[in-house]
Amino acid sequence: MTQDQWTAVDRYIADLLVPPDPVLDEVLRASDAADLPHMQVSATQGTLLKLLAQSVQARSILEIGTLGGYSTIWLARALPTDGKLITLESNRAYAQVAQANFARAGLDGRVELRLGRGVDTMGQLVAEGHPPFDLIFIDADKISYPAYFQWSLRLSRPGTLIIADNVVRGGKVVDPASHDPSVQGVRRFNDLIAAEPRVTATAIQTVGSKGYDGFALILVGDE
Ligand code: DHB
Ligand code: MG
Repeated sequence: MTQDQWTAVDRYIADLLVPPDPVLDEVLRASDAADLPHMQVSATQGTLLKLLAQSVQARSILEIGTLGGYSTIWLARALPTDGKLITLESNRAYAQVAQANFARAGLDGRVELRLGRGVDTMGQLVAEGHPPFDLIFIDADKISYPAYFQWSLRLSRPGTLIIADNVVRGGKVVDPASHDPSVQGVRRFNDLIAAEPRVTATAIQTVGSKGYDGFALILVGDE
């Protein structure tokens, strides 16, 4: 199995199941033109995020790590017109690109971007007594994943679905001796999930145009 094959099958699925979308094409072009790193989810993964948000009938969504807003737009499209998505980004340049992309997608009314370090802005949300979110998508720096998980629990209720990107990292996650800080962050994140009695969780390995990685799916339950 090779990357070429994963990419070809990803394209096959996307051609079949992801409708042509000039707005998202433009969003990716704008992100490219601004030299943003190519870390956004694929079209098939974006569809998965939207599908999951629709499945839990999410009316309020929190995203950690906006980048150019591509996954934000997929998630926000699952919301009812009076729904709300808050997305957190620490990089001012990325945030500017994302804001323009939300306007392009006609979603700037439903999406609020908060600029700042994720751990700070999540702390602010807790401090201001923000009601629990229906869905939380973690996709920012991997070093802070453990902290993002702990804050996410404080912004959850029984039934909240927490999704985290990049928990497999090309398989590197199985190496306890890895010196890669991102791998260590993801491993600590996975350990926290394993030790948390309030959640039902699994991780799915994925291959596709983004290589070999995976999503953690975490359903918050009762105390
Ligand atoms: C990286 C981050 C991501 O969110 C992603 O989807 C892929 C790679 C990274 O930092 O390497
Ligand atoms: Mg990611």
